[in-house]
Amino acid sequence: MSFLSVRDLDLKGKRVFVRVDFNVPLEKNAEGRMEITSDKRIKASLPTIRYALEKGAGLILASHLGRPKGKPNPEMSLKPAAHRLQDLLGRPVKMAPDCIGPEVEAMKPAPGEIVLLENLRFHPEEEKNDREFARQLAALCEIYVNDAFGSAHRAHASTEGMIQFVPQAAAGLLMEQELKYLGMATSHPERPCVAILGGAKVSDKIEVIENLAKIVDRLLIGGAMAYTFLQAQGQPTGKSLVEGDKIELARKLIGQLGEKLMLPVDHIVVSEIAAGAAHEAVERIPEGKIAVDIGPQTSAAYARVIAGAKTVIWNGPMGIFEKPPFDQGTVAVARAVAASGATSVVGGGDSEKAVKAAGVTDKISHVSTGGGASLEFLAGIELPGVTALAR
Ligand code: 3PG
Repeated sequence: MSFLSVRDLDLKGKRVFVRVDFNVPLEKNAEGRMEITSDKRIKASLPTIRYALEKGAGLILASHLGRPKGKPNPEMSLKPAAHRLQDLLGRPVKMAPDCIGPEVEAMKPAPGEIVLLENLRFHPEEEKNDREFARQLAALCEIYVNDAFGSAHRAHASTEGMIQFVPQAAAGLLMEQELKYLGMATSHPERPCVAILGGAKVSDKIEVIENLAKIVDRLLIGGAMAYTFLQAQGQPTGKSLVEGDKIELARKLIGQLGEKLMLPVDHIVVSEIAAGAAHEAVERIPEGKIAVDIGPQTSAAYARVIAGAKTVIWNGPMGIFEKPPFDQGTVAVARAVAASGATSVVGGGDSEKAVKAAGVTDKISHVSTGGGASLEFLAGIELPGVTALAR
């Protein structure tokens, strides 16, 4: 798919609307103020913002935050993001009271100025991809740049609809980087190409497994989704999480993947799920026990395969990694990926947290800023935010 890059456009003196993904995690602090707990997505948008400022643009930044259901909600205001961005850039960021309307129109930025619009989802028209709302957003700018890879799987007014109303549209630097790595890993990976999939449910990753089955040389499965596969093979799973209605599908996938598929050969089991609960490593899950992580033999076997890989795609933890010591399998996989020297692409969300917890983020070629978007990409589903740019 070909589309313009922000680097292809002349931004000098232009009002540039950058759709960013500032959907950052927030927590209320002791004084009742909302505080950002991870600014990764804001930092990831800095290259495009700095580039556009250097080229002489005036910037209108827009994002959603949370799911306010089409109504203003002060707890989901983008004000904390404006403050954080201002600190990171060391220059003023003006916060708009809304994302459309006369007050916003009066704030149109001069070259070098930055205005952050208020949460797009305070208007129901954003998620409805309403034509008139899209037209009003488009009227704010001369150039549209989509740098919100994390929202590219949403066909909303700011990610899809407004493109038809802007004179010029292009991808931002983060969007390009995400598509470059995810595209390379799935369309022309250096081989052997190994995918590692974890997480709780097979049902969340069916399309990803089916698509990756066509691409990768090995597919390693961990996390609770492994137990649905083990049950499909007739192995005991005790009280581990199993999706009863997906056993048939797991059986089909086992047949489809053949030799490519690797499942855990041992497990860490507990009687109850609690951090630090008594646990042991077993090859067969005893009745009444719950498997919470891959065992040491599995970690070692997976690490050997990863060590020989030239491309690694990873999405989802190997166990209940947020409850140590059941993070051991995930940490072992993270270290193996980091040590492999392979081009490594890690999906957002939990996998990103796992890589961070293992302290190896800087050894991963690309950690995606998109959770849902990277999963849809890996599933081979077209992302409307990207398709719209290509028109
Ligand atoms: C994300 O965090 O995955 C994106 O920002 C999209 O958010 P959404 O799932 O609320 O559309």
